[in-house]
This record gives sequence, C-alpha cells and structure tokens, in this order.
Amino acid sequence: MCGIVAYIGDQQAFPIVLKGLKRLEYRGYDSAGIAVINDRQLNNYKQKGKVAELETFTENKDVEGTIGIGHTRWATHGPPNDINAHPHVSGDGEIALIHNGIIENYDTLKEGLLSRGHEFKSETDTEVLIHLIEDIKKNEEVTTAEAVRLALSNVIGAYAIVVMDQSNPDQLIAARKSSPLVVGIGKKGDYYLASDATPIVEYTNEVVYLDDEEIAIVDRNKGLRLYNIQNQEKTPYIQELELQLEELEKGGYEHFMLKEIHEQPRSIKDCFRGRLNVDKGWVGLGGIKDYEQQLANANRIIMVACGTSWHAALVGEYLFEDLTRTPVEVEYASEFRYRNPIIEEGDIVIAISQSGETADTLAALELAKSKGAIILGICNVVGSSISRITHAGSYTHAGPEIGVASTKAFTAQVTVLTLMALTIARKKGTLNESKFRRLITEMELIPDKVSRILESSAYIEKLSKNYKGARNALYLGRGNSFPVALEGALKLKEISYIHAEGYPAAEMKHGPIALIDEEMPVFVIATKGPSYEKVVSNIQEVKARKGKVVAIVTEGDEQVKNMADHVIEIPDTDEHLTPLLTTIPLQLVSYYIAVMRECNVDQPRNLAKSVTVE
Ligand code: G6P
Repeated sequence: MCGIVAYIGDQQAFPIVLKGLKRLEYRGYDSAGIAVINDRQLNNYKQKGKVAELETFTENKDVEGTIGIGHTRWATHGPPNDINAHPHVSGDGEIALIHNGIIENYDTLKEGLLSRGHEFKSETDTEVLIHLIEDIKKNEEVTTAEAVRLALSNVIGAYAIVVMDQSNPDQLIAARKSSPLVVGIGKKGDYYLASDATPIVEYTNEVVYLDDEEIAIVDRNKGLRLYNIQNQEKTPYIQELELQLEELEKGGYEHFMLKEIHEQPRSIKDCFRGRLNVDKGWVGLGGIKDYEQQLANANRIIMVACGTSWHAALVGEYLFEDLTRTPVEVEYASEFRYRNPIIEEGDIVIAISQSGETADTLAALELAKSKGAIILGICNVVGSSISRITHAGSYTHAGPEIGVASTKAFTAQVTVLTLMALTIARKKGTLNESKFRRLITEMELIPDKVSRILESSAYIEKLSKNYKGARNALYLGRGNSFPVALEGALKLKEISYIHAEGYPAAEMKHGPIALIDEEMPVFVIATKGPSYEKVVSNIQEVKARKGKVVAIVTEGDEQVKNMADHVIEIPDTDEHLTPLLTTIPLQLVSYYIAVMRECNVDQPRNLAKSVTVE
C-alpha cells in the first residue's frame, strides 16, 4: 500500500531510488514519482502508471543529485493521476515529501491552511501535510526537521514519510506511525530508507526499523540520529538482515507468482525445519515456547487476519478444534476491531499476516492487547510491525512473497498453524501417540507431495484452457476443504477478474445452485475423507444442472473421475493436511487462466500486497 524509497550519500540518488521503487511496486502501482536535489535545486518528476513509465518520462531530464526520494502509489484520496502522484512539494516548491498512510484529519488541517493562504494542487491528504510543515517552518522560524516534528504532533492517522528540503541538501527527515519504515546503513556512510528492506538488501544488511512516533534525521555529516515525537534522542537499534538478493528476483520464471507457487516444496520445508523431528517424535516452535502453557490453558483462541491469511486462519480453526479441543473463533480483523469484542481472561489472540503490516490486523491486535489478552503473531516478514508488537510469535520463513496474490505464504501459514496445534495438543494430552506420530510423519512428506502435484502443471495448464472464458466460477469444499474453496475462488477473482465464489459444498443448495448452467465451472475438492460421499452427492447435483465439474481428488479415485469433466489427482495424506495439497492445483488453475486472459498476474488491478490503510 504505497512504497517509499530515499537515498542520501555520495552516489547518484536517482538510479538507486528508481530501482528501489521497482522492488516496492507490489505495494501499489497507480503512479510513481521521484524528486532529487541538484545543487540546491529540487527537481520533481511524477507520472500516472507504473515505475517503468516514470523511467521513460525522465529519460532526458535532469536527474542529477546525491539525495533523492521516490514513491509508488496505491490511491486512497484522489484518483491515480500525475497531480495526485507523490512526491508532493510545499507552496514555495522547496520542500518535498513522500508518504505512505492516511492523514485522517486532513480536512480540518486543510481548512486552517486555506485560511492562511495556502493553495492546493492535488486532492490528496499528503499535500496537506507538506503545507503544514512549510507553514510551521515559516511562521515559527524553526528548522525543517523541527517543523516536521511539530506538524506530526498535529496529525491523526498513519504515516511513513520522508522529507527533504533544497535549502539543506545534506539531510533527509523520516518518521513513522503505523506504516513501516526501515533505514539501511550503507557501507560507504550512505543511507537508504524504504518501506521494507527489499530495496536496501543489495547495498547493506545493517538496518534500523523505526518504531511508531520515531523521527530519524539522516545527515551527511552527522549520520543517523533518532528522536521520539517529544524530541528526546534515542539510540538506534541496528539489526542484521537475513534477506538474500536472489530471493527478490524471478529466477527464470515468467512471473513471481509462478516462481512462488513452485517454491512451495522448499518454503514448507523451511517452515518446519528445526521445528519437527520425526525420529524423536517431537514438535516445537521456539518463538512461542514461553506461551505453550497459556495456549494449553486458553479458554478460547481468537484468530484475526485479512484476505488469504484469514483463509489460513479458517484452516487453523479446524486443526485447533479437532486436535486441541480448544474453541477457536476466526475474525476478520476489520470487523473485530470495531465491534467492541468480548475478550476474557485466558483468551489468546493470534494474528496471521504475511506482511505483518496490515493496518486492520495491527489495530485488532492493539485492541486485544489493551483489553489484556495475550497476543501472538504468525508473520512472514521478519521485523514487521505485527512481529514487534506481539508478546511472541512464529515466523513462517516462506521468504519474500512479491506476487500480489498470496501463494507460498498461505501454505507456510497453514504449516505453522499445524505445528502450533500439534504442540498444544501434546501439551494438553488431547492427541494420542500414534495419531501424533502419523501426523508428523505425514507432515514431513508434504514437500515431496507438493512437488509431485507441481509436476502435473502442464496438464493443469491444458485443462485451464477450457475455463479461460468463464464469467463466473464456483468453488466447493467441506470441512477443512471449505477454506481451500474460499482461497481458490479468491485467487481466481484477484488475478483473472472472473467472478468466483467459495461455498461449503452443502450450502450450494441454498443459493448458488441457481447460477449453475453449462457455462459455469464448479471446482470441487473431493478428496478421500469423512465427507467424501457427501461431496460426491454434491457433484451429482451440479452435473444434474449441466455444470462443468473440475474435481480435486485423491490419487486413484475412480468414482468422481466417472462423473467430473476433469479431475486433478493429488497424493493421499492425512485429512488434517489436505489443504496443503489441494490448494496447489487451484493456485495453478488461477495462474494459467490469468495468463491466458493476458492479465497482469503479479500486479492485478486495484490491489496491493501490503494494505497499510484501513
Ligand atoms: C492484501 C493482499 C493479500 C493478503 C491480504 C492480507 O489483500 O493482496 O494477498 O492476503 O492483504 O495481508 P497480510 O499481509 O496481512 O497477510
């Protein structure tokens, strides 16, 4: 949800900022802009569209300068156009600002500024902030850094910002509240600022993650200084990045999404590495070790998440309730945070988030924390906001996920949830030894089974051709296959723009069945398990209405093969683990259909990977 990058040092800023924006483009791609200061002259270039369009636009322009800031936008206030693009500049054109977040009280601030003669060009909330900084700087005769601090004290909302002033080209001023910001400390005494570490990793692995209401001043001569919003100096905590540059490249695949789908055998293995030992019959998650007893004693577990992570939470609900017998509630973070939820002593709230930055999930956690709950996190991005505000948590270790549609993060989340459920079940004594052994043995086999499904990619691509022209699609599943159906439908609509719905198979009779005709593909998860026969009946109901059935079945299944238009076979596994397998062909179907429809698979329209606004 908007990506920001900035650089100060002795190299040319423009190419570094441009490259950084390309890495952050998954956060938003409505417009892009870069400002640089060349010899006390601020040059600002911004364009509707992708970073590549900005690159073309700036080809013969003056982009000289060793200090620069850049932005790639996901529009909130004002449509995506050149004027609303960032950076925004002050009325006198001397100060420039990039911003990720939302200034909620921008209307009130704007009224005051208008009455003091400020004129606005854009419809954005961000432009109000830069005018406020300018206003304070002039009227109170303070430095730009002090004006930024005072302006932020008047702001309600979320922000990660970087400011530069042509009258002081030796300094970048950055601040954050609720939106992420990382400062990279370069090897040559230069500094890189960005929304996440991906634009920084090729220059340095030393970073400082800003905390809420912290202001960083990066000065060519004085280095990095950190303050809180009350102006007290703080000592920066320098951390080492573990991210590798290769993880951010496509590695020969046509799209990041395809690469990430194919990475799943490895990412699932990385997720349980060191947390599972079949020979010793042991499972453990170091990050939540100190909370195992509380988890075992919990009266109730509440999982909060958004999007695909919410679907992983639903799979978690089946796992936790069946294996640990602890009641679980799964909540959309955006609903939970606004409905005065009942949180009682002994409740544990677990947030699930790939990015660890989703604004609603963060706010839901803060609310739960303020009511005294123990809050735990399952995040992919190391050092993310959620991982830092939670009492404890477990990383998914899936590696960077760049494709906007989530794939490997989902299977890694389900893997962590499985390990967590197994750990608690052992502690509570709700799982007998033989079932426990069977589950961990099966867990270890999952990466190879995922590889086997990926080997049938060509077949899945071929069958997907039949459905590339569909206008609607239905996804059905029962039990823990129901969240997989939801996730399958989400993947298809996100990247191919085909309307798709996921339903519990039996609920089809209460509505969606009315939509079924010979045009309508129905994807049914019909693997062997307790509800297999029931799902077979649901398939017959679809066929009776001439619907086209694509069934995901267990290897060797003959019954469904004789009824369905197409079947995709997956290896047999324990029913608790089937979501880790059934998800894979559905990801591939969505991917191939989107490619055939010539959609932008990695950057679908209107979406962003990291939703840092509510
Ligand atoms: C956005 C992304 C989804 C993601 C959701 C939640 O909508 O496009 O892929 O599932 O946010 O994000 P999180 O980072 O909290 O898992």
